[in-house]
Formats: sequence, C-alpha cells, structure tokens
Amino acid sequence: MEYILYEVNGAVATITINREKALNALNSQVLDELNETLDNVDLATVRCLILTGAGEKSFVAGADIGEMSTLTKAEGEAFGKKGNDVFRKLETFPIPVIAAVNGFALGGGCEISMSCDIRICSDNAMFGQPEVGLGITPGFGGTQRLARLIGAGMAKQLIYTARNIKAPEAYRIGLVNQVVSAEVDEAGNVVKSAKEALMEAANKMASTIAANAPIAVRNCKKAINDGLQVDMDKAIVIEEKLFGDCFETEDQKAGMGNFLEKDKEKKLKVVPFKNC
Ligand code: CAA
Repeated sequence: MEYILYEVNGAVATITINREKALNALNSQVLDELNETLDNVDLATVRCLILTGAGEKSFVAGADIGEMSTLTKAEGEAFGKKGNDVFRKLETFPIPVIAAVNGFALGGGCEISMSCDIRICSDNAMFGQPEVGLGITPGFGGTQRLARLIGAGMAKQLIYTARNIKAPEAYRIGLVNQVVSAEVDEAGNVVKSAKEALMEAANKMASTIAANAPIAVRNCKKAINDGLQVDMDKAIVIEEKLFGDCFETEDQKAGMGNFLEKDKEKKLKVVPFKNC
C-alpha cells in the first residue's frame, strides 16, 4: 500500500495514514487503501485499533481539495459516499477504534476522528469543519456526527463559521477525551515529543481495553452505537440481548469464575476468541 501503514503489536493494531507531504489529506486512493486495511484486520487476535496520521504536524487535513476541485455534482455525491462508506465501516467496526489525533484534524480529518469510538489528541491538535469556506458542506458525516457528539447548537456554530478550534477547546466541548502534551525536562529539553506521548497514551488506553473481555467489549460498542439510533424502550432491549449474548461464553465463565475464586492473577486476557 502506498498511503497506509499497518502495524500489529499483540492485541493492538495501529493504522497510520501515511501521506505526510499533503498533511495526510484523504484522496480516493487513501480511502480505498483504508477500506482494504480494515477488511484485512485479523479480528481473531486484534482487540483494539488505533488510527493516526504520519508525522507530528497533521492527523488528516481533510479530503483532498485538489481532487475535489473539478468534481461534478454526481461525482461529488459519489466521493461523499466513498468516504461515508469507509467511515461507517470504522464506526461500526466490531472492535473499538481510538483516534490518536496528532495536529490538524480538519474537514474530513475531524470527520474521520468522529467515526472512531474515542479521540485522544496532542496539545498541538486543531479541529474544525472549514468546508463552507471552500463552498461545500462537510461531506464525510460532519453535519451528523459533530451534532451528535457536541450538540446541535455548538456544531452549527462551528460548521457555519468554519472556525477551527485548538485542543483545549475541543476537550472543553467534549470533542476529545484526552489531551496529551510533550514531556519536557527541568532544563526545558523535550524528552518526549507530543506525538510520542500521544501514541504512548493511545497504546496505554488500547492495551487496557484489549485486556478486558473481548466479547463483552464488542457487545458494549454495539449496544451504545445501535442504542443511540432508537428510542429508550428499544435501546434497552438492544442492551438486554447483547447482555444475554455474553452468557455461556468463555469470557463470562472465566471473568466471573476468577472473581468467585478470588483469583486476581488469572486475568481475562488469556481468554481466546472462541465464542466470537
Ligand atoms: N487537500 C489537499 N492537499 C492538502 C490539504 C487538503 N485538504 N491540506 C493540505 N494539503 C497540502 C497543501 O496543498 C500543501 O501541498 P504542497 O506542499 O504541494 O503545496 C501541503 O499539504 C502542506 O500544506 P500547507 O503548505 O498549506 O501547510 P500549512 O502549514 O501552511 O497549513 C493547513 C496547514 C492550515 C492545514 C492548510 O494546509 C489547510 O488549510 N489545508 C486545508 C484544510 C481544509 O480546508 N480541509 C477541509 C477539506 S474539505 C473536506 O474535508 C470535505 C469533506 O468534508 C469531505
């Protein structure tokens, strides 16, 4: 693949969008390669994914403006669908996906981060939906996911004004879960760059998730995602079914057995994916 790096470390896999010269902007090829990468994740062993961008400066600076500049109406719609299909695959991916946002997350970059379950960013990150300044709407789910994440009023303000926001504001309005800074020693020397600290934090969170019961974690993701699409009466039924689905699994037997036997060392991480 030209623009995607894929690395597996135990139960955690990292996908890196690797088009640094264009600040990791999403052209059709990047989207196709991302789609293929997701199709090839080994779900028998990988329990959590991290999505990031190559380099220190940019996570993803949006959809590729050069590629979009000559599109017809029909081609524009098709390009929106291409992005939406991949982002929806990420959003509904069976295992959790953490966006490690290193720098710019603009337009399609902000949108792809919102398709992930959790966003952690470096303190140089910048989020925004600048599309109306380019004469278009957000096209990879931004009008929908931003409103759902931070509320319609705040989403409308950010989208209509095309104002970019820095990491502290993104954290304050609930767009990101955690902001990570570079580590500096007493003399002021950088001992860990913001990107290194970010990836360390993302890996730590991913490893914590991966150490929990895999079937239960998957079912939690599905319960939250599916439940948010329907009213509460239907939502709790979705939860009941996914709760019930956990019983009789190796995870549930081992998890509860360990507790009852007071065996704190026999962790769930030894449980394989037999029941998936
Ligand atoms: N598409 C294509 N190329 C892009 C790009 C994008 N979205 N963002 C950056 N690049 C390219 C630049 O053209 C430049 O390439 P060259 O070196 O070949 O000239 C390279 O990346 C570096 O960019 P800059 O020189 O502009 O870097 P900077 O530090 O001065 O500015 C920036 C950084 C503020 C992020 C600026 O690049 C920028 O504003 N980028 C566009 C951001 C944007 O508007 N994104 C939304 C796109 S629309 C969208 O995403 C629609 C959708 O919802 C699907």
